[in-house]
Amino acid sequence: APATSTEKYRPAFHFTPQKNWINDPNGLVYYDGEYHLFYQYNPQGNRWGHMSWGHAVSKDLLHWNELPVALNEFANPDGKSVTMIFSGSAVIDYGNTSKLCPTGTKDCMVAIYTSHVDEKGKALAQHQSLAYSADKGRTWQQYAKNPVLELNTNEFRDPNVFWYEPQKKWVMAAVKPDEYSVLFFESKDLKSWKQMSRFGKQGDQSKIWECPSLIQVPILNEPGKSRWVLFISSGHRQKGYVGMQYFVGDFDGTNFKLDQENPKPASPEWGNVVDYGKDYYAAIPYNNLPASQKRPVMIGWVNNWEYANDLPTEPFKGAMSLPREVALKRTDEGLVLIQQPKISGLRKQVRYQQKSLTLNTTSQVIPQTVASPFELEVTLVPGQAESQGIRLYKNGSEETILSYQAGKIQLDRRTSGNVTFHQRFPSIEEAPVTLQNGAIKLRLIADASVLEVYVNDGKAVLTDLVFPEKTTGQLELFTKGGTGEFKDLKISSLTAK
Ligand code: FRU
Repeated sequence: APATSTEKYRPAFHFTPQKNWINDPNGLVYYDGEYHLFYQYNPQGNRWGHMSWGHAVSKDLLHWNELPVALNEFANPDGKSVTMIFSGSAVIDYGNTSKLCPTGTKDCMVAIYTSHVDEKGKALAQHQSLAYSADKGRTWQQYAKNPVLELNTNEFRDPNVFWYEPQKKWVMAAVKPDEYSVLFFESKDLKSWKQMSRFGKQGDQSKIWECPSLIQVPILNEPGKSRWVLFISSGHRQKGYVGMQYFVGDFDGTNFKLDQENPKPASPEWGNVVDYGKDYYAAIPYNNLPASQKRPVMIGWVNNWEYANDLPTEPFKGAMSLPREVALKRTDEGLVLIQQPKISGLRKQVRYQQKSLTLNTTSQVIPQTVASPFELEVTLVPGQAESQGIRLYKNGSEETILSYQAGKIQLDRRTSGNVTFHQRFPSIEEAPVTLQNGAIKLRLIADASVLEVYVNDGKAVLTDLVFPEKTTGQLELFTKGGTGEFKDLKISSLTAK
């Protein structure tokens, strides 16, 4: 097939590389008016391999400018093995206090990544290394004395570093994946690291732990208050898939201590789920955000390792999520994570609205065809119907169904288009919801093959990939087995400002 045949799946405002494979976002850092997005990248192909850091920059986290590869896999002096640049983070060392950058450099951008030593597909070691840039991430040098942190194991990775102001030091979280543990380290100069503490063996352990991050998160309805949230990429409630979980607690500069009561999981067997869809993984927060940005911002990889290599797209494979603002909210279930897409940088034009519509085992097609990307907002007021919702990207027997039934929001992509490229792809996602004043608020952002559904102002999120044959947003509202009301329906196109 010609390379362009899958361009229809390329989202407009979710980052994708021009060509080739990507996975985790890396080194998310803001500096001097630019948001940097580094990412796991294969410069040579459309599947995982030759792991390097690709690079893109943006002024609004929505329009991205792809730059040359920042950090390339390199051959080792032994002539046999290579060092792959695995996941990690980036910080700004103001005043170049580490002296990593050349004398006279104002501020030094430092990448802290996992140096993964590989010989023909066999992992020989994983340790943490540094690279630095004196020109805003455009060109990089490897630190001559790498690695800077070594535990003599090949399972130790994904360093996430941030500045801890109260003790004027750098803190790193990194995982021992097969021990379901995060180790915390401290450093004054980014070069020498000392272990402080360990957290783990709790929550989901159905999959190895990867990509940890620890951030201070404000509590929305308790002004001035905050807690620390530890994010881990691990298992999904549907067996075998990967997903993300979070822990709420406190951090005193040394230890992360879990709050026993926060949050009370909506469903104990599901734990504290970051995203109920299949396609949100390896998300990390931005470092060094401008003061005007009051809430932390995270970006995740929109994919699932179960089928990631087989997605039916070329010449690119993989996308990033929209930037998400995160906060905590005090609720009956304790403090819960709230996530909202940061898309104020887009022009939103309302194409269709309806104040109220009640259906009784019927459906209604929305006449306008909205080209992707679009946003759909609606408040569902369940009546007697056993289910009620919206059919998306409807085209003959092809459709993706977003619906409410029996206390749950469902996203069903079993007939969403091309689902046969991998047997683990067709699936139904479910998120538990509690009615608020008898209703459920839904906000869907559809951008070609990426769907992000925010439920009840971000209390639950479902992110899923779909590969419909037509991506022109034919929509249909329906109820099954009784009545249901759709309130304040609004469909908007999203375009560049
Ligand atoms: C997570 C991950 C990381 C690792 C990287 C390798 O998706 O497995 O743990 O650093 O991908 O590409």
